[in-house]
Amino acid sequence: MGIRIKNKEQIEGIRNSSKLAAETLKYLEQFAIAGNTTDYINQMAHEYIIQQGAKPAPLNYNKFPKSVCASVNDVVCHGIPGPYVLKDGDIMNIDVTTILNGYYGDTCKMYPIGIISDEAQDLINVTKECLKIGIKECYPGNRFGNIGYEINRYAIGKGYSVVYEFCGHGVGIAFHEEPEVSHIAEKNIGKRMREGMIFTIEPMINAGKARTKIDKNDGWTARTIDGKLSAQFEHTILITPSGCELLTDVYGEF
Ligand code: MF3
Ligand code: CO
Ligand code: CO
Repeated sequence: MGIRIKNKEQIEGIRNSSKLAAETLKYLEQFAIAGNTTDYINQMAHEYIIQQGAKPAPLNYNKFPKSVCASVNDVVCHGIPGPYVLKDGDIMNIDVTTILNGYYGDTCKMYPIGIISDEAQDLINVTKECLKIGIKECYPGNRFGNIGYEINRYAIGKGYSVVYEFCGHGVGIAFHEEPEVSHIAEKNIGKRMREGMIFTIEPMINAGKARTKIDKNDGWTARTIDGKLSAQFEHTILITPSGCELLTDVYGEF
């Protein structure tokens, strides 16, 4: 089918949903503290999203049982909220995807729980920088491969590894659309970005090996193979005539 070019009306709808997803991440900051379970954070997210007249996209998506992903420490992505009690020094990713008036917005960020180690903080800083570096490659005419090329080059230079088993993706009309946006790629490969395309960049960066393994019992939770830390940031990005617009950066942090 190829990569969708969104029209004005669709862009407006996706912009609104993306804004809500970003507001949900902000709202959840107060709950990301030691002593709370990840299930409690899931509940707070669910109620907030429903209150705004939207739906959480993960719930029942390919049988995912919860409304957000909560990925703690060595969990790379797709952590299922549950009875786990957050403790001082943990690092957690919350990934929120909203469906508002039929349109999808997708974003995630890291939450340090209390005081975290210098190692954990450095991994978070580098991962955020990886997303920024990917965003710099977002403009009409550039090739998708250059996003992964630049992210990987930077991450490796810092002594980290880039997860290659999960990618960014087109988003907006559906949860996961074309193209796959790899966070590790060769220079100048892939299709060209065009005005009106909307996709995510969502690098997962590991302190140790790049490989992940999926929990056999729940079929979702992806952990690092060596038990070392992993971090992730994600934005929903619109290609504009002059570059790009970060639809989920409503607080101007990027
Ligand atoms: N939000 C994730 C992404 O960025 C996908 C989660 S799929 C789920 O693509 F089923 F786990 F919710
Ligand atoms: Co995504
Ligand atoms: Co996401």
